[in-house]
Amino acid sequence: METTNNDLSIQSIQEKDSEKLIEMLNIFWNGLKEKRKTTKVAPGILQNLPDVITKDPYPVKHTSLENVFKEVYEEILPYCVNTANPLFLGYVTPPSLDITWLGNAIIAMLNQNVSFSALSPAGTAIEQYVVNQLCKLVGYSDISGGVIVSGGSTANLQALITARRSVLGEKVAAVGNAQSGGSQRIYCSTQIHRSIHKAAIIMGIGVENVVEIPCDVNQKIDVSKLRKKIAEDIADSKYPIAIVGAAGTRACGSFDDLKSLSEIAEENKIWFHVDGAYGAFLKLSDYKPKELDYLHLAHSITIDPHKLLFMPMDNGCLIVRDRQKLIDAFGIEGEYLEKFHPVGQDFCDFGIELGRSMKAFNVWLAFKYIGLDLYKKEFDRLLILAKEFKELLDNEPEFERIGPSESIIVCFRWNPKVSYFSEAKLNIVNDKIRTTLIKEGTAFLNGVTIQNQFALRICFSNFNTKVEDLKVLLNGIKNMSKSII
Ligand SMILES: Cc1ncc(COP(=O)(O)O)c(C=O)c1O
Repeated sequence: METTNNDLSIQSIQEKDSEKLIEMLNIFWNGLKEKRKTTKVAPGILQNLPDVITKDPYPVKHTSLENVFKEVYEEILPYCVNTANPLFLGYVTPPSLDITWLGNAIIAMLNQNVSFSALSPAGTAIEQYVVNQLCKLVGYSDISGGVIVSGGSTANLQALITARRSVLGEKVAAVGNAQSGGSQRIYCSTQIHRSIHKAAIIMGIGVENVVEIPCDVNQKIDVSKLRKKIAEDIADSKYPIAIVGAAGTRACGSFDDLKSLSEIAEENKIWFHVDGAYGAFLKLSDYKPKELDYLHLAHSITIDPHKLLFMPMDNGCLIVRDRQKLIDAFGIEGEYLEKFHPVGQDFCDFGIELGRSMKAFNVWLAFKYIGLDLYKKEFDRLLILAKEFKELLDNEPEFERIGPSESIIVCFRWNPKVSYFSEAKLNIVNDKIRTTLIKEGTAFLNGVTIQNQFALRICFSNFNTKVEDLKVLLNGIKNMSKSII
């Protein structure tokens, strides 16, 4: 007899398919491993999206597991960017470690809510452990702490909320921005990540109060101009609340002078936050930028496991020198929020979210399974790879490096260095090179404009990339450029 939808329930289909799920996962994983070797970097990108909407506008009926998976293979997979391809280099979005898909499966199976410690003792202990490891990595003391969040943008937002609460005091929580009676100010360089501006909008501070200080030739904030600007603003009755330093700028991966920024923050009794979303991890490496020696001077640091710890999206982290500052900013009372028998930190008091997943578990798994030694080895390798790539470019007459490059980001352009090639033409051709590479699916590079020059940008965060891949890329660009001009 055929089963109808009326005979089914969520429980019954789960029981029916419980074994099949593992089979499907096995088939999917084996298929994906093969596909990763043969598929291009960016199939379908810049062309069209999968047609999942008109195919099934309102999914009322239960669909068999086989048919759902068929759709995954046929409709979804071909449109996925292949982040495991060695030439996926456009952003600091590396492939995720294999162990983390297992971690994600366990997180979903257990479905712990890491809000109160009593509701998720294991999840709480794991998150405390992970956060403590990250605090140790940057050189923080025992009173430090932090919280796992969705990514660098959220970490930066939560850092600035914490900064405002710390600098303006308790009253800001009660009366909001009216507390300062004037413009609050956030200081950073022109090269800071735009998530700082987004945070200023969300917090009601406004982008015009994000004061961008010019950079020197190495794209590091000009500290004397910063000092002068803060003094002027104080004289003008503004309310400086935070300086944001970059441990890895968005375009070229430069590191600000963190020691001087910390001193200026102390002098003015304001908060010092460091956006080290990817760059803070490099502190582990023997080849780290020297500014990282002063990372621990920051009041707070953004450090994203979904960047250089190779976690899947979305796994970010904010750490603070004094964890009480987070509780001051985010702890809130409510009768339904009654903390029964707290056995550890209640992570809902450390950030915006109440219901929270156990995603720290994935980082914990990786710390155990990979170990810090192998992470260090990989960071060393990525920094050396970036250096080798710079040498390749310097030895190729048709290429030219653009901007500074002191860590894992290298910007460059194709330039035949002939007189009839104007700057404007070079910009157009290099942009075309980038879009052609992506359309063909050969490589995924990002583009940035540095002092009016359009550059191709490579972020070395992919553990599959080798120097041979980069030679293939440069040869490909040379050949392609002949048909583009
Ligand atoms: C330096 C820096 N800060 C913040 C962010 C924002 O991080 P997310 O994309 O995780 O929100 C990024 C992302 O590229 C970044 O490179």
